[in-house]
Amino acid sequence: MKFPIHIERTEVSHLHEVDFSQLQFGKWYSDHMFVAEWRHGRWVDCHIIPFGNLPFSPASSALHYGQIIFEGMKAYRSPEGEPLLFRPEMNRCRFNLSAARMAMPQVPEALWHDALHELIWLDRAWIPSQQGASLYVRPFMFATDRFIGIRPTEYFKFIIITSPAGLYYARPVKVLTMEKYVRAFPGGTGYAKAAGNYGATMLPLREALQHGYDQVLWLDGIEHRYIQEIGTMNVFFVIDDVVITPELDGTILEGVTRDSLIQLLKLKGLRIEERKVSIDEIIDAGERQRLQDAFGSGTAASVVAIAEIMHRGRQIPLPPVEERRWWKELKAELEGIKYGTRPDPFGWRVPVRSRLLSVAMN
Ligand SMILES: Cc1ncc(COP(=O)(O)O)c(C=O)c1O
Repeated sequence: MKFPIHIERTEVSHLHEVDFSQLQFGKWYSDHMFVAEWRHGRWVDCHIIPFGNLPFSPASSALHYGQIIFEGMKAYRSPEGEPLLFRPEMNRCRFNLSAARMAMPQVPEALWHDALHELIWLDRAWIPSQQGASLYVRPFMFATDRFIGIRPTEYFKFIIITSPAGLYYARPVKVLTMEKYVRAFPGGTGYAKAAGNYGATMLPLREALQHGYDQVLWLDGIEHRYIQEIGTMNVFFVIDDVVITPELDGTILEGVTRDSLIQLLKLKGLRIEERKVSIDEIIDAGERQRLQDAFGSGTAASVVAIAEIMHRGRQIPLPPVEERRWWKELKAELEGIKYGTRPDPFGWRVPVRSRLLSVAMN
């Protein structure tokens, strides 16, 4: 192993405390976590240890200046009980893109691979088996320099925690646009999974929730006209049998689910356009009954129908969710690939394998 991992197992498993029939997103954490340190230009001290609190200085620069990035991925259980990951390399590439934007070190393929596979293999009993549920995997990195001056930092922690979870949204979502706030703008950090992007949208989210909406549908930061994405998902529309999604312009996250849906649609020979989409185009299509579907895509949420879109106090007309086939068919197809119940024409499924533990535990 290029990055030797020391494993310290928990003495007491908390698995029996979890009610797997009532999983909520982010409530439970599995028994172990992975931790590595970046010191003097190298990743060192790679450990899998019992999940728990970590000691670090209150002067750690991440706490003051937000040099924090993260990823979100899932491990699934196949019908044969095999643990599966979905396109984990794409998450690593995006993690490193986020790291580069935030002046943080890159995570090499071998470290990402071994940390994920050893941790998930060790806690594989935590992967739920019921349909729709999975083990959410959260890699993250933050600056630990004990220094409150503002300067690019030299010390980091890379951690992975996992959490058995049901779907993020149990029902179709309601979204609204907001012109008072902006999520991202050209030259900013919109394409990075940087913690600050999410911290800055807590207030708009709270206001959206107070008005009875689940999320904000973000518009561009300059003209407040072009649709970017939803706070937790990329967004797709279907007009006259053409699937349309906002292009990657540096202000939105390049979703793994978004990319997977685009590839699935192309494989089926359907028309998919990645381009600028204005809210006026969606209103116009809605009013002329040409808007056939609208849905969000994300790892946590999977593919979820948008039940309502509110813009400037007016609801955009959409067909009833039950009558829309696009989101439903794409969700079934994608989940079939993820859970190993449908063929995987792209080779996206990655079986979880341990190099350290498999012999001892099988
Ligand atoms: C802002 C934002 N956009 C899009 C996505 C969807 O990305 P992915 O499909 O990789 O989960 C997420 C989910 O993490 C997100 O937080």
